[in-house]
Amino acid sequence: MRIVDIIVKKRDGGELSAGEIASLVRGYVAGEVPDYQVAAWLMAVFFRGMGPQEVSALTREMMRSGRVLSFPGLRCVDKHSTGGVGDKISLPLAPAVAACGVPVPMMSGRALGHTGGTLDKMESIPGYRTVLSPEEVERLLGECGYAMFGQTEQMVPADRKLYALRDVTGTVESIPLITASILSKKCAEGAQGLVFDVKTGSGAFMKREEDARSLARSLVEGARELGREAVALVTDMSQPLGRMVGNFLEVEEAVEVLRGGGPADVRELVCVLGGEMLVLGGKAASLEEGRRMIGEVLDDGRAYERWVKNVGAQGGDVEELERRLGKWRAPVVREVRAVEEGVVGAVDAYRVGLAGVVLGVGRSRVEDAVLPDVGVECVRKRGERVARGEVLARVYARDETRAEEAARMVGEAYRVGEETPSGSLVLERIS
Ligand code: URA
Repeated sequence: MRIVDIIVKKRDGGELSAGEIASLVRGYVAGEVPDYQVAAWLMAVFFRGMGPQEVSALTREMMRSGRVLSFPGLRCVDKHSTGGVGDKISLPLAPAVAACGVPVPMMSGRALGHTGGTLDKMESIPGYRTVLSPEEVERLLGECGYAMFGQTEQMVPADRKLYALRDVTGTVESIPLITASILSKKCAEGAQGLVFDVKTGSGAFMKREEDARSLARSLVEGARELGREAVALVTDMSQPLGRMVGNFLEVEEAVEVLRGGGPADVRELVCVLGGEMLVLGGKAASLEEGRRMIGEVLDDGRAYERWVKNVGAQGGDVEELERRLGKWRAPVVREVRAVEEGVVGAVDAYRVGLAGVVLGVGRSRVEDAVLPDVGVECVRKRGERVARGEVLARVYARDETRAEEAARMVGEAYRVGEETPSGSLVLERIS
């Protein structure tokens, strides 16, 4: 079948066969099918959608476009978040799960748009390397129980090309395309069990709860089709997670959680997601038991021990990291104060995330560099009472101009009133 016939079939609402999807994906990766034809096909998928068989075929093709890792003899589990603001969960989660005996090959992404990236946060640790060969990942799984690394040139090249094209053709927000993109990467990294943290709210990719639910269902079903056990939690991203939004600032908060402290919401999510991972990894008989086990390794230092081991094994300078805790801040500090007394009703995660981009926490374009020492400290969060003139947030910037602009944006993110807001962190579990 010619490529144009595949486009027409999808444009008219037809269901593509695995062979048709393979011709398109393989041809595109090989450079034989041009961008304009794939762009037309993506738009047809965007409007017509895809059935479960098509999503599964697309995921398989994308996954097999490059190297697929496997760790024979290890039952590996991983977590994937759809992205948020202040989402540093992976940092304490991987060592905590590893400390409970479940290996975690954690392939993560970088900051893009208003959301942060695990790799950028870890690379703010002096010397820490995230470019690892499959052999190094395997060695690290043996030595410290987990590895944190990025996608290499050889892994899932189809997603790299397709994602870049979706980004410039208005076809990112498509549930089948997002599902295939996420699953192709997660299934290529060698994990048998997957936990998805699907964010919803202003700082999330899926702003509406019903869209987040649909994506969660699609990810769980798609993962099962590919022989992986999976569960998804839909979680709140209407305000930043924890109090810190930044790269090293978030490493600091992760270390607090790894030492048994830290903000309650971050610890709770680490325990809930970690509990799910321990059940999938066969180390806990119930979610309750899994959560309790994660809480124990956070409190007794075993999770922190794993973290220290991993930081050293991936080239990080542990002593320097510890010396910088609580001190490494960009030089220009701006405080955002409450203009009236009341209860914090909202801290808009999207606006705080955009302020982060202005400061250099995240990037507007893939090739932009990020800064390690800048960010936003949300001193007050939703539901907390504040007096007039009290500090709501602090902005850490490299220069006055960016400090000014970011502080204005953070000020706009806060709403202070008389109503006490409600809302839970975990909104739904889909298995
Ligand atoms: N994250 C991904 O990896 N892919 C998408 O398509 C969207 C979010």
